[in-house]
Amino acid sequence: MKIGIDLLHFATADYYLGLDTFAAEKNLDVDKFYIGIGQEKMSIAPPDEDVVTLAAKAAAPILDQIDRNDITAVLFATETGVDQSKSAGVFLHGLLNLSKRCRVVEFKHACYAGAAALQMATTMIRANPKEKILVIAADIAKYDVDTSAEATQGCGAVAMLMTESPRIIEIEIGSGYFTDDVMDFWRPNHRTTALVDGKYSTKVYLNSLKQTWEHFTEQTGKTFEDIDYFCYHIPFTKMADKAHQTLIRKTGANVTPDEFKAQTLPSQRYNRIIGNSYSASLFISFISLLDHIEDNIENKRVSFFSYGSGCVAEFFTGVMQPGYQSLLMTDRHLEKIAQRTALTYAQYLAFYHPSEASEENIVYEPTNRGGYRLAGIENHKRDYQRTSDE
Ligand code: HMG
Repeated sequence: MKIGIDLLHFATADYYLGLDTFAAEKNLDVDKFYIGIGQEKMSIAPPDEDVVTLAAKAAAPILDQIDRNDITAVLFATETGVDQSKSAGVFLHGLLNLSKRCRVVEFKHACYAGAAALQMATTMIRANPKEKILVIAADIAKYDVDTSAEATQGCGAVAMLMTESPRIIEIEIGSGYFTDDVMDFWRPNHRTTALVDGKYSTKVYLNSLKQTWEHFTEQTGKTFEDIDYFCYHIPFTKMADKAHQTLIRKTGANVTPDEFKAQTLPSQRYNRIIGNSYSASLFISFISLLDHIEDNIENKRVSFFSYGSGCVAEFFTGVMQPGYQSLLMTDRHLEKIAQRTALTYAQYLAFYHPSEASEENIVYEPTNRGGYRLAGIENHKRDYQRTSDE
């Protein structure tokens, strides 16, 4: 039985901060960002945008193509959830008017949770092929102002419809995984911004890649040459380059500079102009590959390396399905990205609102243009609205 992704779509915020604007504000050479970390822009969420509204924007175009009553489960991966008890997925379930005959749960482990939700969905479908599961990976990456991590913010949500006989990619059985209790990045309950030991985090990321690769090859017998395209978790695109170089060194593969670019560049293009989106980032990288690769990659194998600080990592693969190209929502992705509004540094700071945790009642100005918004909070209860027929 083949199980995998039948449809997928992503959304990001309607605003961005250019790293040229950022560099000018901080009096830094912009090449530190364009070349040094390989980033150009960061999507910035306004106050009436959160992971629920981003997820709704990601999922709506998928639900328009199917009978939404067929969704049997929503697995919502996020590390920037909106409530300590109620799953972000249940807010989403209400906003999207899904069937009551559905289970919803939130998954968390830093950026790894999206891969965990996807693997859980494949297992549920293997047990019952009638399941149609909506996997969401949605996050808003936020660090303290005036830290070196500030340049690696961003946000995004990916929605993936997981089914039997998938039309886009079959997720293959067998993966390599790795857990180690380390403190490279974390966010205590009282904070809205993450804390990070930046340089250490990049080392732990690369070690996790080597560990998961070893386990993956033991489990599957596959080699580097069996994989055609490589998608990595992308906190910034230079990290994915370093990851690919590390894998090449580890496997002793012979890769020319042109092959290196072909294997990695298409899967970085969206991430370079969106920034980190934590749990969504690996899957935005996959969509970037599909939307930018010029060749038809039917029957080609794509690898996925998921890394969540703290840390949990997994390496797995999938095989592209015949006819996948007709299902892509490339034009929609490109159009939404092109429509984003550039922020000045001062406007970005205005969006960089203080914690709402202590706020009992808030009404948000309509700033987010995407069709779903957080209208406000009343008596600590979040009020979401659908604002257009997008
Ligand atoms: P930094 O202080 O900006 O680092 O921090 P830097 O000054 O060393 O500069 C970075 C690179 O730019 C260096 O290259 C410089 O040489 C180069 P490298 O040595 O790395 O190859 N550079 C220049 N290049 C060209 N022209 C110039 C120039 N100036 C400098 N003029 C850091 C960078 C990434 C550490 C920081 O932004 C940070 O802490 N970010 C957050 C942490 C992070 O993203 N970690 C990634 C791995 S952990 C992960 O992926 C998980 C995560 O997504 C969270 C989760 O799991 O939930 C973060």
